[in-house]
Amino acid sequence: MYNIKVNGIEYQREDDKKLLPFLRDDLGLTSAKDGCSEGACGTCTVLVDGKKVRACIFTLSKLDGKSVVTVEGISDREKEVYAYAFGDTGAVQCGFCIPGMVISAKSLLDNNLEPTRADVKKAIMGNICRCTGYAKIEDAILLSAKMFRENSPIPEMSSSGKVGEHLGRIDAREKVLGTGKYVDGITVEGMIYAKALRSKYPRAIVKDIRLDKALAHPDCVRILTAEDVPFNKTGHLVPDWDVLIAKGDTTRYIGDAIVLAASTKKETLDKILSLVEVDYEELTPLTNPLEAMKEDAPNLHPQGNILSKQMIARGNVDEAIKNSKYVVTNHYSVPMTDHAFMEPECAIGIPNGDGVLMYTASQSVYDEQREIARMLNISPVLVRCQTKLVGGGFGGKEDMSVQHHAALMAYITKKPVKVKFSRQESLNIHTKRHAMEIDITTACDENGVLTATKAMIISDCGAYASLGGPVLQRACTHLGGPYNFQNLEVDGTCVYTNNVPGGAFRGFGVTQSCFAQEQNINELAEKVGISPWEFRHKNAIRPGDELPNGQIAGEDTAFVECLEAVKDVFESNPYAGIAGAMKNAGLGVGVPDVGRSNLKIVDGKVHILTSAACIGQGIGNVMLAMVCETTGLDPSLIVHELADTAVTPNSGTTTASRQTLFAGEATRKA
Ligand code: FES
Ligand code: FES
Repeated sequence: MYNIKVNGIEYQREDDKKLLPFLRDDLGLTSAKDGCSEGACGTCTVLVDGKKVRACIFTLSKLDGKSVVTVEGISDREKEVYAYAFGDTGAVQCGFCIPGMVISAKSLLDNNLEPTRADVKKAIMGNICRCTGYAKIEDAILLSAKMFRENSPIPEMSSSGKVGEHLGRIDAREKVLGTGKYVDGITVEGMIYAKALRSKYPRAIVKDIRLDKALAHPDCVRILTAEDVPFNKTGHLVPDWDVLIAKGDTTRYIGDAIVLAASTKKETLDKILSLVEVDYEELTPLTNPLEAMKEDAPNLHPQGNILSKQMIARGNVDEAIKNSKYVVTNHYSVPMTDHAFMEPECAIGIPNGDGVLMYTASQSVYDEQREIARMLNISPVLVRCQTKLVGGGFGGKEDMSVQHHAALMAYITKKPVKVKFSRQESLNIHTKRHAMEIDITTACDENGVLTATKAMIISDCGAYASLGGPVLQRACTHLGGPYNFQNLEVDGTCVYTNNVPGGAFRGFGVTQSCFAQEQNINELAEKVGISPWEFRHKNAIRPGDELPNGQIAGEDTAFVECLEAVKDVFESNPYAGIAGAMKNAGLGVGVPDVGRSNLKIVDGKVHILTSAACIGQGIGNVMLAMVCETTGLDPSLIVHELADTAVTPNSGTTTASRQTLFAGEATRKA
């Protein structure tokens, strides 16, 4: 028998388990988050006898007789101060890390109300924040210390809420105090748990699947195979991604799902999956796109291994390079990168009439609705997707990961189903920034004026298309960079392999090609004998100029001003690097792009209804500012609603930095 006090209440437990599931599942204290389950991220930080610990590491047997404090258990005064300070300093984005930060702050401020910034940095060293960059979190903790020290009252909100006016994050309080709901913090009556068995090999024929032993497990509710899926494909743009790999088919990467099992207890899911017997015929995987492009390479998809090609050609590149004084040629290998959002993927599917109700955390509820409806072969109106708080996305939550499996199991079993990734599953399964192989030649004249660039990009698509086509397109169209030269040739190919699929990620392909071009430019500057800053300033695009891809730079182009603003800092710091890039807002390249927003008056308040997902960027604040600016209403009269396909109109995906422009303009017009 273990005696543990949590937030002042005594509990007795006979079974041993980790402290984190005890707090979250047994006591419903969901401020402590599960970012990794293995002591690496700090999102589960709590106090034990006044010392901060990671709740995912300690077991109840180690805590017998001890006292635990979570954010739910701190004093009312502390709650008010931390909620105000984190909101006022803009320290909260997706919020997933914040309760852990608050506990680390408390462990510091309980002993030292006059901390230095260095003290604060040390106190939160074990807490990872993927969104904020830490500086504002440090500001929030220093402000909290000051308020405790001076016993300051909580200031009244006095902002007009208009564009450019200071207003704390409107979602800060629920995120700081842990009362806001992320999907994994939700439990539904009668809920079961599902998990997929993943392929043992990146490329193998599934010869046989035997379920008898797994089905005999007392907790097993159902095991689904490909035969149970009405339409066995998903895919953001190209429906090429198997929901489950069928017997006789060939796997394409280690994240492929073979069967989907449901259990009454999440603790027994792994045991049930271990009883599923799969016979594989292992095949040699294609892990290098150059190998996958060879004539005799096996086809990973029926149409072959080339997903897409892209060619950009302007001017006379070969002639311009031949006549240039300085020429630099290099090969760059840019690796795949994980988004590392702090909240691993989680979704709940709930039977709802003839369809399903989904609680999800993605970058577009309407994308989910479309893909789930297609998979279930039912009308989209039968699939209702409601977003909960999203613990970061960065492009990595655009594709199906857990949503379709939760929907499928709920639809078939007629029970509420939760599917949640462990951190390892998240790393293995969701899309990554595309790895690219880039051969690039960049040339300039004797004065350092750019003359031409010629490049070849091989993009590793991985096992499935996701957004491989558009990502390659942007990598090619933007390779030239924000410079004024008119000879550009880029030949791009996106190739299927047996690696983890590539997908959307901040920068969307441009990060990779920009890196290659900027590295070449640094070498050219050295050859010319001028500073990297001067080289860029000399070639910088100006309003009205033509970019290498033929686009005309708009009147608001300010690359020159940007460079001039950093000149002194750069030139006076021998270790500083410099690179140039331009950012768009919206899908671009002529793709239709629509924002939608409705305003509804409920009980004297304006409710903003738009499906624009907040993945931490603060869309609620942006929409509120639009309404305040346009109407002059006080911010206290405005409510921002979360996306729900049954209530909020489709405003497209939160991607391409587009929602401030599109959903924002729709809100302004509404
Ligand atoms: S450190 Fe405990 S969940 Fe990551
Ligand atoms: S706000 Fe820290 S991880 Fe998102």
